[in-house]
Amino acid sequence: MSYIADGEPIPAVHGISFSLAPSERLAIVGESGSGKSTLATAVAGLIPWYVAEITCESARIGGVPVEMRAGRDVIPRRRKGVSMIFQDAMTSLDPVASIAHQFRTVLPAGHGTTRAQVRRTTLEWLAKVGIHEPDRVVKLHPHELSGGMRQRVMIALALCSAPKALIADEPTSALDASLSRRIMDLILELTEELGTALIIITHDVDLARTYTDRTLVLSHGEMQDLCATSELSSPERSAYTRALMRCVPRITDYDLDTLPTLMTSNPSHSIAEVIS
Ligand SMILES: Nc1ncnc2c1ncn2[C@@H]1O[C@H](COP(=O)(O)OP(=O)(O)OP(=O)(O)O)[C@@H](O)[C@H]1O
Ligand SMILES: [Mg+2]
Repeated sequence: MSYIADGEPIPAVHGISFSLAPSERLAIVGESGSGKSTLATAVAGLIPWYVAEITCESARIGGVPVEMRAGRDVIPRRRKGVSMIFQDAMTSLDPVASIAHQFRTVLPAGHGTTRAQVRRTTLEWLAKVGIHEPDRVVKLHPHELSGGMRQRVMIALALCSAPKALIADEPTSALDASLSRRIMDLILELTEELGTALIIITHDVDLARTYTDRTLVLSHGEMQDLCATSELSSPERSAYTRALMRCVPRITDYDLDTLPTLMTSNPSHSIAEVIS
């Protein structure tokens, strides 16, 4: 996939292939700019046609073939069966619409569904994600909620349509550590209940270790590894993955003056530096 800049394609991610079973959990890890969000938004169908060129040999969601190339809409539509939640709920929720209205756009009335049913489902989902007094909260606008509440609302909005896959792009990096864990536990519990496959995009290898079955390691838009998360530290992994794992701070590193880092501008140099 290439972004278009000044009419020229600029490669962003390429040569990536993966599959995901129902209820399976995949982490996508990599440095900033490695293409994690690009890959995720392309899978969710959220990249407009005038922003990027997408080529893909074949893609299926729930066994049904899908066209990965963006449709011709000016505002892209989310691909059916895939939902996404983002790091910053404030910029992802519509600031001028009530929570009730935002649910109505995901769960439209019609086709045998009445407005009363949509309202009932909305209240059920708000309660399910741990919102107290859903009757009151449903009338509020995003700025009237705390960060944790907004993230819970976004999880409910993403899951209420029972998607086949949920992509969570850094879902907790704007939250403090204890809330972050509670939100991750909630995402896990609900996706397990619905049989939804989960893709978690993160910089945090420990979070990947705790919550996912497999991990895809990206660097400069290329797949460096795709393996069981428990095997990330195995000597069989690529030099890049091994170097990345060396950058994860450990409690026993207290005597180091400087922690190892990967330098994005020159990964081969930084890998040599980290491994030496
Ligand atoms: N709309 C865009 N137009 C042009 N280039 C873009 C666009 N969005 C992202 N890019 C470029 O694509 C590459 C991958 O960016 P992406 O946002 O996918 O990285 P990321 O791994 O999600 O980074 P981070 O961890 O910081 O979120 C970067 O070089 C970025 O500059
Ligand atoms: Mg990103």
